[in-house]
Amino acid sequence: MKKLKISVIPGDGIGREVVPETLRVLDRLAEVHGGVTFQYETHPWSCEYYLENGVMMPSDGMARLHQTDAIYLGAVGNPKLVPDHISLWGLLIKIRRECEQVINIRPAQYIEGVKSPLAEPNQFDFIVVRENSEGEYSEVGGRIHSGEDEIAIQNAVFTRKATERTIRYGFELAQKRKGRVTSATKSNGIVHSMPFWDDVFQEVSNSYPAIETESNHIDALAAFFVSKPQHFDVVVASNLFGDILTDLGATIMGSIGIAPAANINLNGKYPSMFEPVHGSAPDIIGQGIANPFGQLWTAKMMLDHLGFEELGSLLIKAIKETIGDGIKTKDLGGDSSTKEVIEHVMTKLL
Ligand code: NAI
Ligand code: MG
Repeated sequence: MKKLKISVIPGDGIGREVVPETLRVLDRLAEVHGGVTFQYETHPWSCEYYLENGVMMPSDGMARLHQTDAIYLGAVGNPKLVPDHISLWGLLIKIRRECEQVINIRPAQYIEGVKSPLAEPNQFDFIVVRENSEGEYSEVGGRIHSGEDEIAIQNAVFTRKATERTIRYGFELAQKRKGRVTSATKSNGIVHSMPFWDDVFQEVSNSYPAIETESNHIDALAAFFVSKPQHFDVVVASNLFGDILTDLGATIMGSIGIAPAANINLNGKYPSMFEPVHGSAPDIIGQGIANPFGQLWTAKMMLDHLGFEELGSLLIKAIKETIGDGIKTKDLGGDSSTKEVIEHVMTKLL
């Protein structure tokens, strides 16, 4: 029997509604499958915690996370209580940085029964692999002078190490999927970092002769996500390009309430973190209508990551069947409550 230790951070708002419900599903999965149990260490770190303690997490918080196999997070942020830059940087971004979660992955998939804003969504199913530690989001640069002489300089930082590990992760993933990797570039306009990115992409692709590759400029690629999303399998992208593409991916899925994400640690020193794309949804707190599918789908990604792909497949199948049965929350055009959706998912796991 394998015992997996999971750090659970429900966080704020609907995070506290969907996280406990989805843990029941995880326990049911463990029960029907056998061979694994989950041991949760649940932390109250949130904006309310901040108001009581003056910090988003205690000083030994990070050490406690390090001792577990994965971090399962709901959502962080309650701008009425604490400014977002304090809550997000004090918890979410702190964990991403200090646990060296250098890659962010977000699948986007057409789900039968979820209305996509695309006229012909055509069964798309792709994953964006985003560099999560450097690139355009660097603190290198500054501003000098003022008035009409003012100058702002923002430097992008591309290291071989980070670029290569991101691209390689994409190729490894494509080997288990449809075997195609698309690189998001812009070497026609950004003349140093992007040709470098292209070179590394070419080098890495040489060790994966069976994988089909292509490079698209980011502007054209964004348009292709709308005009032919079914074409893509794995898309590798820098921090900024990945940020933009993943929002687009979540949007064409039909609701932010179903989109999942994972922040992956690659060196094995610290746990990875699994969280839905959505935030704390202050406008629907306490109504019992939060869509739990995004949170559940992140649980599937966590299971896959921890080597329990079979459980992950059962879970995604249960999610799709539940949507197929028309058991959906309001954001998906249904009238089921969070709990009703979860109960229905559970019946699929008997
Ligand atoms: P949001 O994602 O919380 O909400 C945007 C809209 O989508 C709202 O109308 C909300 O009701 C709806 N929505 C989101 N998730 C849903 C779900 N599961 N079921 C049904 N409807 C859902 O984004 P917003 O309002 O911009 O941010 C609210 C707070 O969350 C802020 O403090 C923000 O900083 C934080 N945030 C945190 C994130 C995280 O923890 N990773 C990500 C995005 C925002
Ligand atoms: Mg974004």
